Amino acid sequence: MCGIFAYLNYLTPKSRQEVLDLLVTGLKRLEYRGYDSTGVAIDSPDNENIVMVKRTGKVKVLEEAIQEHFSGGEYSKPVLTHVGIAHTRWATHGVPCERNSHPHRSDDGNGFVVVHNGIITNYNDVKTFLAKRGYEFESDTDTEVFAKLVHHLWKTHPTYSFRELVEQAILQVEGAFAIAVKSKYFPGECVASRRSSPLLVGIKTKTRLATDHIPILYGKDEKKLSPDQVLPRSESTSEFMPLEEKEVEYFFASDASAVIEHTNRVIYLEDDDVAAVRDGTLSIHRLKKSLDDPHAREITTLKMEIQQIMKGNYDYFMQKEIFEQPDSVVNTMRGRVRFDGNAIVLGGIKDYIPEIKRCRRLMLIGCGTSYHSAVATRQLLEELTELPVMVELASDFLDRNTPIFRDDVCFFISQSGETADTLMALRYCKQRGALIVGITNTVGSSICRESHCGVHINAGPEIGVASTKAYTSQFISLVMFALVMSEDRLSLQQRRLEILQALSNLADQIRAVLQLDSKVQELAKDLYQHKSLLIMGRGYNFATCLEGALKVKELTYMHSEGIMAGELKHGPLALVDDSMPVLMIVLRDPVYVKCMNALQQVTSRKGCPIIICEEGDEETKAFSSRHLEIPRTVDCLQGILTVIPMQLLSYHIAVLRGCDVDCPRNLAKSVTVE
Ligand code: F6R
Repeated sequence: MCGIFAYLNYLTPKSRQEVLDLLVTGLKRLEYRGYDSTGVAIDSPDNENIVMVKRTGKVKVLEEAIQEHFSGGEYSKPVLTHVGIAHTRWATHGVPCERNSHPHRSDDGNGFVVVHNGIITNYNDVKTFLAKRGYEFESDTDTEVFAKLVHHLWKTHPTYSFRELVEQAILQVEGAFAIAVKSKYFPGECVASRRSSPLLVGIKTKTRLATDHIPILYGKDEKKLSPDQVLPRSESTSEFMPLEEKEVEYFFASDASAVIEHTNRVIYLEDDDVAAVRDGTLSIHRLKKSLDDPHAREITTLKMEIQQIMKGNYDYFMQKEIFEQPDSVVNTMRGRVRFDGNAIVLGGIKDYIPEIKRCRRLMLIGCGTSYHSAVATRQLLEELTELPVMVELASDFLDRNTPIFRDDVCFFISQSGETADTLMALRYCKQRGALIVGITNTVGSSICRESHCGVHINAGPEIGVASTKAYTSQFISLVMFALVMSEDRLSLQQRRLEILQALSNLADQIRAVLQLDSKVQELAKDLYQHKSLLIMGRGYNFATCLEGALKVKELTYMHSEGIMAGELKHGPLALVDDSMPVLMIVLRDPVYVKCMNALQQVTSRKGCPIIICEEGDEETKAFSSRHLEIPRTVDCLQGILTVIPMQLLSYHIAVLRGCDVDCPRNLAKSVTVE
């Protein structure tokens, strides 16, 4: 989804060229989120105007345009204080083109310029209101109305501060958004806000602040606009969080990966916060006061390392992340699983375990790959918790207005922690009194903050749009939860030990599977020119079929379908002949005989499947000349080892087909719109 990056240097000399470099680097860090056009806005060399550069396509194209038009001369002279804003756009309203790219402006004179993520749902009403007052629109976007609304308010309320103008404008708009605004009338100032779309402020100073907990003061916003001046609006109360620094730099960004090379001190903004910097001072104002408002905004120290968001020796982030899995699964278990004492502690939920044990049912809710991690672990959760476990796609769950009860425990699984459907489902369940457990990879994300308790999967930043290491870490987090729930069940102890033993071998076994890389690459050469790939399996490996097919689809643009082998004779078998590529997962587990039946059904229709089987399983291998052998592990963890060849296969097919591995078309890393 779209990415915001804004940079403000106060009493810290930087040339415009340096500012532009910073903005472009910030955008590069946000590229992985998915986008189709880019843009920046900085002050003109005479400080009288704002100049904007926008381009369709990659950040590289924008960078080249900037180098061509804005280097040397006035652009290399240092300025003490300056604000630049930048954006990667993922088209929602209007096709990707320069006209629709951000920043959007208020008027011909570029009085106010805005970058925005999310959707302003009442933009048509606001547009009509502004059109009646003479505003003409130049783009198809919802964002443009915001820039013009701020301008209208500025004209009608000349005494308002920049922060107040933006605040009043925010009160008129509906929907989910994050926004950053710059103005030539308020040089050196920047105002940003969020509602259901992530935004953080990075702070870089020469000296550390004395405290990381800044108290919030309360105050009443006295200035209200009359209804005929703007659309109806709600009352607002403000809180103030002064943070005074000298020689300070501020970064406003959609996520931490864009700021980590500059500072590890960030404040995650909450919904309806308005963050404003004026004279080098950051203040955070609340639009609406609610009972559970915190008394302080915490400055968080990011644990992330810059190396984690660099590709290193790999060609693609996705490739790097696939190969990181021996380490990422260990990081998920680190400090939680004690193999010597067979004990597991999940600090984020331990106080809630008694309540969870009393619940009516467990609901696992997510989208895409995160949903698949729920499918993968459902059987084990049913076995070890002895509770009914429902697995739900967040969008469908919401469409059905699914009944939820106070004694339900709802898990929200999300790598980004910002997926709009999952977040909406969370709020739906929270309103109905259920216990909310977040399973996320992003500290400070909305799902993280809005959950009652949770497990951070600790997979490290995942930059490739296609989720890989987050999946295996989500999988392990849910397995650990199942183990915690069965701790005091005597009858389950043998099973628990077997799983713990397998977990302790997992990293080495993943390393062994990764050794198959060149073999998988050869298989990819056989497959990449085909139109379709069917992936079949059942039991613990059905989730791998779904996840494998999703990876193939999203990365290679080939059709692929994950098929439950038990359903084969109910329709899908019609697709099988000697030309249809098929991959089958046949492991020595309780459904082995059934999988062998399916394999025979396929081969007797002249299908020639690629088989994923256990090392040394000659009987199964005999069915095909093409197979991938994986190490034996306990049945409920097989899905971790079988999904890795699928990740590698989709990666290699994508490379062979010339697809953009890290940024597949029409996809976004963080899907913040419904
Ligand atoms: C697939 C993929 C998506 C995400 C889905 C949910 O590779 O990345 O299917 O899994 O958009 O995203 P999160 O986990 O961030 O909620």
